[in-house]
Amino acid sequence: MNKPEHLSKEVGDQFADKSVVENYGYRPQYSQAVIDILSDQGRGTSMSVLDIGSGTGEVSIPLADKGHSVIGVDPSAAMVKAARAKGSTAEFVNSYIEEFSSNQRFDLLVAANSIHWPDWSVTFPLLKRLAKPHTKLAIVTGGDLVVEGIKDDILQIIQKYSTTRNFKPYSIVKLLQEQGFISNVTAIDLPGEALTQHIDEYVASFHARNGFSLERMDTDQARAFGTDIRQVLTDYGFENEVTGNVFYSVTFADIESPE
Ligand SMILES: C[S@@+](CC[C@H](N)C(=O)[O-])C[C@H]1O[C@@H](n2cnc3c(N)ncnc32)[C@H](O)[C@@H]1O
Repeated sequence: MNKPEHLSKEVGDQFADKSVVENYGYRPQYSQAVIDILSDQGRGTSMSVLDIGSGTGEVSIPLADKGHSVIGVDPSAAMVKAARAKGSTAEFVNSYIEEFSSNQRFDLLVAANSIHWPDWSVTFPLLKRLAKPHTKLAIVTGGDLVVEGIKDDILQIIQKYSTTRNFKPYSIVKLLQEQGFISNVTAIDLPGEALTQHIDEYVASFHARNGFSLERMDTDQARAFGTDIRQVLTDYGFENEVTGNVFYSVTFADIESPE
């Protein structure tokens, strides 16, 4: 298995940090289009869905609301607690996907911004066993609020302050495909949807992301990060609110279990 170094278990475990869970609601919500594309896999019937790395239930709950029978699996006890507190018919299991066991076979497997974390050599044979013959894996990516004119400045600030020092850009779909974990890939790239956020919420949303857990950042560094982001926004003409676009991709693939 050839995975970028920064996608380690230790880094993935930061989703158990209190600040990450508390700030999670400031990340943009999945658009209705994403939920509809996933739900439409059932062609009008109720599906059994396994949501891998379900977090606070951002995908599990809207799918359950559409009448699907959803099990979300996540190793972060705090994420699972927050998901359960929302009250939904979706069931949440506190476990690494690698350690999840069930006799059930699912109609759809979903991994929304999460399949980069587990150990693929353990996970994909397991997913294959949990899938029915025609079950697809849906990989959802995206969800950043992108402001076109300043995205490079924001990226520079992210790189300056992120506690994930060895970050290397990667395409999750490409990596999984190259290593034989998925095949027959169909990607749907959705058009950007406009979103306006208060600047404080925009800054807070970063603290729900990999590399910006407040428990793992020096207090002065966290403050300086917020100041730098605010400065770029002010220089660009935003005062209290920031407006940009949020992009998502949904990729359907067959699950493979290479030797
Ligand atoms: C960026 S969050 C995505 C949460 C949710 N799917 C969403 O889109 O809002 C990544 C999630 O993957 C979970 N995760 C990390 N390692 C995992 C593993 N080995 N198995 C399953 N989930 C894992 C984290 O706890 C975290 O909740």
